[in-house]
Amino acid sequence: MGTLIKGGKVVSAAATTLADVLIEGETIARVAPGIDAAGYTIVDATEMLVLPGGVDVHTHLDMPFGGTVSADDYEWGTRAAAIGGTTTVIDFALQSMGHPMTEAFKTWRAKSEGKACIDYALHMAVTDLGPNDEWLDDVDAMVAEGISSFKIFMAYPNVLMVNDATIFKLMQRTVKLGALVCVHAENGTVIDVVVQQALAAGKTGPLNHALTRPVLAEAEAVHRVVAISELAGGASVYIVHVSCEEAMREVKSARERGLPVMGETCTQYLVLSIEDDMGKPGFEDAKYVFTPPLREKKNQAPLWKALRDDVLQVVSTDHCPFRFTDQKTLGVGNFTKIPNGGPGIENRMQLIYHYGVNAGRMSLERFVEVTAEVPAKIFGMYPRKGVLAAGSDADIVVWDPEAKYTITAATQNMHTDYSIFEGFEVKGNARQVFSRGELVVEDGRFIGSVGRGKYLHREVLRR
Ligand code: URP
Ligand code: ZN
Ligand code: ZN
Repeated sequence: MGTLIKGGKVVSAAATTLADVLIEGETIARVAPGIDAAGYTIVDATEMLVLPGGVDVHTHLDMPFGGTVSADDYEWGTRAAAIGGTTTVIDFALQSMGHPMTEAFKTWRAKSEGKACIDYALHMAVTDLGPNDEWLDDVDAMVAEGISSFKIFMAYPNVLMVNDATIFKLMQRTVKLGALVCVHAENGTVIDVVVQQALAAGKTGPLNHALTRPVLAEAEAVHRVVAISELAGGASVYIVHVSCEEAMREVKSARERGLPVMGETCTQYLVLSIEDDMGKPGFEDAKYVFTPPLREKKNQAPLWKALRDDVLQVVSTDHCPFRFTDQKTLGVGNFTKIPNGGPGIENRMQLIYHYGVNAGRMSLERFVEVTAEVPAKIFGMYPRKGVLAAGSDADIVVWDPEAKYTITAATQNMHTDYSIFEGFEVKGNARQVFSRGELVVEDGRFIGSVGRGKYLHREVLRR
C-alpha cells in the first residue's frame, strides 16, 4: 500500500501542473493527474503546492570553528532543515592541517551517523596537500567515497586558507576526475592587513567585521580563482556565498566566456543588509557576523536578478550557527574573535518563497530550480533528488502557499538563542514533508526518527 498526494499543483523547473503523486516505499511511483485513489493512504493537497524537497548544499553542522563548535549538530540541524522543507543537505568535512583528508572523512561520518534526520552528503574542505603533495591522492579516494566536490578557502589565513599553488594543484586533479571545486572567494591576506589596521586604531566592535571585508576583496578572489581554473585546464568551479554585485559580475563574465563557473548566493544576502540589520547598540551586531559579511542594501536587487538570469544558480544557507550568549560573546572587545556564521537552515524555503515568488522576483518554477533541482544536478544527486518524477526518492514537500508564519527564535528549531530573521512575516510554509516516502514533518513538528537520514554517495559530473 502506498501514499497518494492528491489534487495539488506539482512544481518542477519546467512547469506547474495539477497532478497526483504516488509514493511506493521510498520512491515516487507515478506523477499523473487523476490517479485512482483506491487502496492508498490519501494526503489531500487541494490548494497546495507539491514541491521536491529542498536541497541545501552549504551547511556547517557540528563544525569546530572560531574557538568553538557550531551550535547545531547533525540531529538538530537536519531536524530544523526538514521542518523548513529541506530534505537533503551537503555539509563540509574539514581537513585539519597536517592530517589527510581520509581522516576528516571518517570524523565527519562519525559525527553524522545515527544522528541525521534527512539524507545528507559531504564536500571535502581541503586545507593541506601534504609535505610532498601526497594527499593529492586523497582526492581520488574521496571521489570513490562519494564526495564529488571539494572546498577551498581563499580567506581565514592560518586557519583554513590555502595558497594559489594549492588551488592550482587541486584543480589539475579535479579536472582529471570531473569533480567540482567550491570556493570561498575573499582575498584573505589583504583582509588581514585591513583587520590589523582597524584593531590598531581601536576599532574593536562587531560592525568592524563587515567594514574590514570590502566587496573588492571578494570580487578579486573570484577573478583570481577563475583564472587559476583556466590555467589548470578548465576546472569546474562553484563560487559559494556570493554576497555582492562586484563578485557576481565576475561570475557573470566567466560564464559569458563559456567557462564552467557556477555560483550560489545565500538567503541572508538577499533579505538582510548593513543598513537594515547592523549598527545596533552594544554587541548585538555580533549576531550578523558571518563571512562574507552583510553588504549594503543596493546589492540585493542585482543578486535577485542574477538568480533570475541564471548568472547564479543556487540559493543555500551557509548555516553555521553560534549562540549569542556564550559563543558570539567570545569576541567582546575584539571582533576577530567572534565565531563567524549564522543560523538559517530552517528558513531558506520560507524566505525565498516569500521574498522571491510572492514578491514577483522569481517564478515558482525558478524557486524550485534554485532551491532543489539545480543544486541536486550540480552536485551529482539528480534525478534521485531535486525532482518529483517516477523513480526519484520520495522527498516531497506539501507547501501551503497561504500559510502565514512569523520567524522568531522563540519557536525555531535551530539551536541558537536568536534569529537573524527575527520578526520576518512570511506567507508560504511547509505543511507536510516526506523524506524517502516517510512523513517526517507535519504542521511544523518533526515526527520522524533521529538517525534515519542516509549518507548519499554522489557522482562526479563530466562537465
Ligand atoms: O561565516 C561563515 N560563513 N562561517 C562558515 C564558514 C564559511 O566561511 O563558510
Ligand atoms: Zn565561506
Ligand atoms: Zn560556509
